[in-house]
Amino acid sequence: MPYINGLGVYAPEKIIDNAYLEKLVETSDEWITSRTGIKRRRMAADDEITSDLACKASLAALKDCGRSVNDITHVFVSSASPDALCPVTACVLIRKLGIKGVMAFDCNAACSGFINALQLANYTAMADPNAVILVVAAEIMTRKLDWTDRTTCVLFGDGAGAVIVSRNLPQNPQGFCAEIDDILIDTDGEFSELISIHAGGSRQRYSVGDPVDRNYFISMNGREVFKQAVRSMVEAARSILERNRLSLEDISLVIPHQANDRIIQAVGDRLDVPVDKLFSNVSEYGNTSSASVTLALHDARNADLMPKGGRVLLTTFGGGFIWTAALLNIL
Ligand code: ACO
Repeated sequence: MPYINGLGVYAPEKIIDNAYLEKLVETSDEWITSRTGIKRRRMAADDEITSDLACKASLAALKDCGRSVNDITHVFVSSASPDALCPVTACVLIRKLGIKGVMAFDCNAACSGFINALQLANYTAMADPNAVILVVAAEIMTRKLDWTDRTTCVLFGDGAGAVIVSRNLPQNPQGFCAEIDDILIDTDGEFSELISIHAGGSRQRYSVGDPVDRNYFISMNGREVFKQAVRSMVEAARSILERNRLSLEDISLVIPHQANDRIIQAVGDRLDVPVDKLFSNVSEYGNTSSASVTLALHDARNADLMPKGGRVLLTTFGGGFIWTAALLNIL
């Protein structure tokens, strides 16, 4: 089976805490903390774009596994907040990395984008024994927010994470290494309107000079999304355990999509995950969409929560709806 070897992240320096948001909209640190668990989030600098975050995370992942940019054969960038509709962020990224002639493109599966891109890398590595695939999830969600809408602007933040996938074991034994054991992906388009950015694509016509209105920013039915997110991540986690004949006792850490602490706790409660096996860092970053599980993997590793020989269960949920589960064996 292919391996992830090398994990790197980048979180912009600027920190926006809840007190800052109290000055923008009618909200409070108490409301945000009690409803979401989020205390602060990162915000990209004015001159940073998504490919910049992706580039920093990619270089960190390469360093972690001791590889050079010239080893890369494929680049898959997951983003719901790319540089632009065109050019493709992955192509801007390879220019910034100083490479050419690799297969490079973007994929968008909203907050589940990283695991979808990882599955693509997994299949690619199975088909091509020489493939060295850079998988990057990079998001500047703060540019997709209506800063007058308190129901969404308090939830999201910016960040990026990258991994290298290949069939070879890592060159740097100190770097992150995990076998990709299994990945499960499920979808249901019936709920696509519950999280959306209505305009900016083909479905809303616009012309030069039209005002930028709230349709260009994220809107969400928070309560309904909450219920579906819990239900779907629990279902995916149970299914992947069952089809691998595993139980939660075989799992050393569960990392759900970092959207909201109450969602994470509800997933943990329904699966009966002991508190010390349920990871959350949403208080520090907010919801960074597809980058969320990469930042979580990185922080969990730094906290020594992923010992060698342990098994990690990831589960994600995002717009579409698309939800996933993945099993990693830590080497
Ligand atoms: N500050 C203060 N009050 C607020 C805020 C805010 N930031 N936002 C909403 N409220 C108010 C509402 O207006 C409402 O007031 P009303 O009763 O007078 O109408 C009240 O708080 C309760 O609103 P609810 O939406 O019912 O609050 P809820 O307890 O459901 O919490 C939340 C809202 C946090 C958005 C929750 O529904 C949630 O977490 N949903 C999931 C959202 C999410 O994480 N989505 C991302 C997952 S998928 C992905 O990552 C794309």
